[in-house]
Amino acid sequence: MIAIVNTDPGWGIGKAGALQVHISQDLQRFKKMTVGKVIIYGSKTMQTYPNGKPLPLRKNIILTRNPQPAMTGAYLADSLEELLELVEELKNDYNYRDDDFIVVGGESIYKLLLPFCTECHVTRINQELPADSYFPNLDIDREWELINQSEWLEDTKNNLRFCYLHYRRIIDNN
Ligand SMILES: NC(=O)c1ccc[n+]([C@@H]2O[C@H](COP(=O)([O-])OP(=O)(O)OC[C@H]3O[C@@H](n4cnc5c(N)ncnc54)[C@H](OP(=O)(O)O)[C@@H]3O)[C@@H](O)[C@H]2O)c1
Repeated sequence: MIAIVNTDPGWGIGKAGALQVHISQDLQRFKKMTVGKVIIYGSKTMQTYPNGKPLPLRKNIILTRNPQPAMTGAYLADSLEELLELVEELKNDYNYRDDDFIVVGGESIYKLLLPFCTECHVTRINQELPADSYFPNLDIDREWELINQSEWLEDTKNNLRFCYLHYRRIIDNN
């Protein structure tokens, strides 16, 4: 599994159930990186998607403990165990590889699944914004190392700069 996340310098990722900021270039990159793959997220993150529905053009696995009506293009998992079984089934049925499974939020699901992730693609914005949800700080985690940082890019609409950070797991705890 890998993770994709957008964070501020304090590893904030969201406020009041929404993203802190919408950077159109970053959202396009997110689409490019996830189309044709399997995205894994919590029910609260689904509420942030258009019409509160699974994203098209990719398989969606939604973690929720509440029974939900069946949704086209979406699988439900009510526990970590069920999620891991589903991942194995999808690998067998569709030949997905480990890094085709992409954890996309929110805070509770990043925390739950980070131990299974081997890479994290972090979009880092250059200014701290109001936050009530966070991603684990990879810079103080000895299981992770930063292996690449892009140049800083401008987001004129939001008047901020951002860059892409690529982290790799160096200690495998599975
Ligand atoms: N910056 C980013 O890149 C990014 C990306 C995604 C999300 N976010 C932000 O993150 C925030 C949401 O994070 P969050 O932690 O509140 O919500 P979340 O992780 O998206 O969803 C939480 C829900 O997931 C389900 N869940 C959690 N653990 C589970 C488990 N072990 N088994 C089964 N279901 C489980 C529960 O759903 P039920 O209540 O239905 O049982 C829980 O209420 C929002 O502000 C959002 O915008 C930011």
